[in-house]
Amino acid sequence: MKKYDEIFKKSITDPEGFWGEVARDIDWFKKWDSVLDGSNKPFYRWFSGGEMNTCYNAVDRHVKNGRADQVAIIYDSPVTNTIQKITYKELLDQVSRFAGVLKGLGVSKGDTVIIYMPMVPQAAVAMLACSRLGAVHSVVFGGFAPHELAIRIDDARPKVIVTASGAIEGRKVLEYKPMVNKAIELATHKPGKCVVYQRAIVKAEMTEGRDYDWDEMIKAAEPAECVPVKATDPLYILYTSGTTGKPKGIVRDNGGHAVALRWSFENIYNVKPGEVYWSASDVGWVVGHSYIIYGPLLTGCTTIIFEGKPVGTPDPGAFWRVISQHGVKVLFTAPTAFRAIKRDDPNGEYLRKYDLGGFRYLFLAGERLDPDTYHWASKLLDRPVIDHWWQTETGWPITANCMGIEAFPVKPGSSTKPVPGFDVQILDINGNPVSAGTEGLVAIKLPLPPGTLPTLWKAEQRFLEAYINPLPGYYFTSDGGYIDEDGYVFVMGRVDDVINVAGHRLSTGEMEEIISTHKDIAECAVFGAEDGLKGQVPVGLAVLKTGVERAEGEVQQELVRMIREEIGAIACFKQAAVVKRLPKTRSGKILRATMRKIADGKEYSVPSTIDDPAILGEIEEALKKIGYAKR
Ligand code: COA
Ligand code: AMP
Repeated sequence: MKKYDEIFKKSITDPEGFWGEVARDIDWFKKWDSVLDGSNKPFYRWFSGGEMNTCYNAVDRHVKNGRADQVAIIYDSPVTNTIQKITYKELLDQVSRFAGVLKGLGVSKGDTVIIYMPMVPQAAVAMLACSRLGAVHSVVFGGFAPHELAIRIDDARPKVIVTASGAIEGRKVLEYKPMVNKAIELATHKPGKCVVYQRAIVKAEMTEGRDYDWDEMIKAAEPAECVPVKATDPLYILYTSGTTGKPKGIVRDNGGHAVALRWSFENIYNVKPGEVYWSASDVGWVVGHSYIIYGPLLTGCTTIIFEGKPVGTPDPGAFWRVISQHGVKVLFTAPTAFRAIKRDDPNGEYLRKYDLGGFRYLFLAGERLDPDTYHWASKLLDRPVIDHWWQTETGWPITANCMGIEAFPVKPGSSTKPVPGFDVQILDINGNPVSAGTEGLVAIKLPLPPGTLPTLWKAEQRFLEAYINPLPGYYFTSDGGYIDEDGYVFVMGRVDDVINVAGHRLSTGEMEEIISTHKDIAECAVFGAEDGLKGQVPVGLAVLKTGVERAEGEVQQELVRMIREEIGAIACFKQAAVVKRLPKTRSGKILRATMRKIADGKEYSVPSTIDDPAILGEIEEALKKIGYAKR
């Protein structure tokens, strides 16, 4: 039997034996009672009874075991012209001091802390300090507007918010503090304390009695020790878009997460302790959590916190410069970053300026890797380009070409095979398996492996409704796709109202909820249209209330502004049209999938359930006016 087949089989037929062995790579304060606890199905728990500390495993143990002077974090910020190297010893000092700061502000085991930070090392320090204390962090992506931050404040109910005075986004300086102030004003829950990291690029105004200065606090702090937590205690909550305006609070536990990430690092990415690894993402996304912070540090690698973009900071050679300057072995980013580089440097002129000698692989995820981008990147780099598929929910890859186990030939369009631990199957709508090559719903047979979501934050019923009830016995991924005769998985896209814009996950349902609050709008539909750079972008169609006469351009601008103010610029909502009516089924369901096909200029069949087929012609005309529906 081939190596992959053997490992995969063991992970599925004997998950307890498999993960019990893997868990030896983590230091435990107390060994678990059971590897897999299925006493409360479908809420499976891993390593019940075990005690450990994630920060200890990511920082302290490396200092004890000979990595004290190895660089843990390289902060590379072309936008502020900074390169800073932090050793494991220095990281331990900063993290234990900041844990002392949080402790002094009343944070203890089980409390929640929101972190709203740009790509600076202090974001990592804050995350690790929370995990040191057994507190639960919830990092909110800095591109989200105050309204989104407020929703998360109300759900997570943090004791403290950790933030920075601002960020540089490309060439713009953004002030964070006014956004935090506004979010606290909007939220019902009022966190009593904020720690603000003042950056040279912009100074934040401090609110007396509530705001504390990061530098001053850390200087005066008593370092805090690691607090043992249960393997099953939450490490973090990460909010991600669902189909409604209320994001889902994905919970990550401590023990299973550490075990899975440590294993994935060597087995999927083939990165060894001591090597330099880089995820060009943001700490606000799951990739940032798993593969900027926890994965590399749990493994004793050097990770890079890059405050820049693939293009424009200063040019499309930015990635090649970082790889060659810091000796990066493996890069992980989103396909959209490569589409941006391809757009600005189609012939790869910038690459020729740098020596990428030690660079091994490029891993891509976050959205579908289109074959064009795959071929362009492979040819340019002359190294394996590996598509892998996963979700915020799973926290680590579900399907991949596992470079540390056995490299398979690539089939463009496929993220290769299920990763050990994930029993991926394709089912029809009734939960029956379909034959090889037939498209269906992508599901994972329970139990999910360690490191995946045990539940949603304070929303068990929602967890069941979203992930378990649709296909009993399985975790429903909300993605559609197929598995071919060779066992390669092809993930084709979401079957719900979630879209992927530049690798960022967004809810069209939420955008519709926001637009519906416009005083002149009777109803609306938002769907994702294809975009050459960002994969998908949202497009909105709105119907005015009866009797309302408004200039279309004006309404469009108002809708664009509303989404920008409520969700943030990151939503990339720039196109909307006013239509007389929306196409619906006879039972009143809006035909978003058909409109999406029209917008993309694809062939579509008129649904037999449609109320009035003539509406589709009107929709096509409206979409043409805003640059879509080109055949
Ligand atoms: N804070 C505040 N605003 C942010 C932000 C942040 N962290 N990140 C993005 N934005 C803003 C941008 O400034 C832009 O605003 P604008 O409409 O006023 O110009 C808007 O959100 C859209 O940003 P983005 O999607 O990043 O588009 P872009 O045109 O500026 O850049 C790419 C295009 C391809 C270079 C960029 O999308 C990119 O680097 N993508 C890779 C994404 C990635 O790594 N995803 C990780 C998931 S694995
Ligand atoms: P997120 O939770 O933000 O990581 O987004 C998860 C979603 O992104 C998945 O459900 C997929 O729809 C999509 N996705 C991520 N990686 C891939 C990939 N390699 N191929 C296809 N879709 C992907």
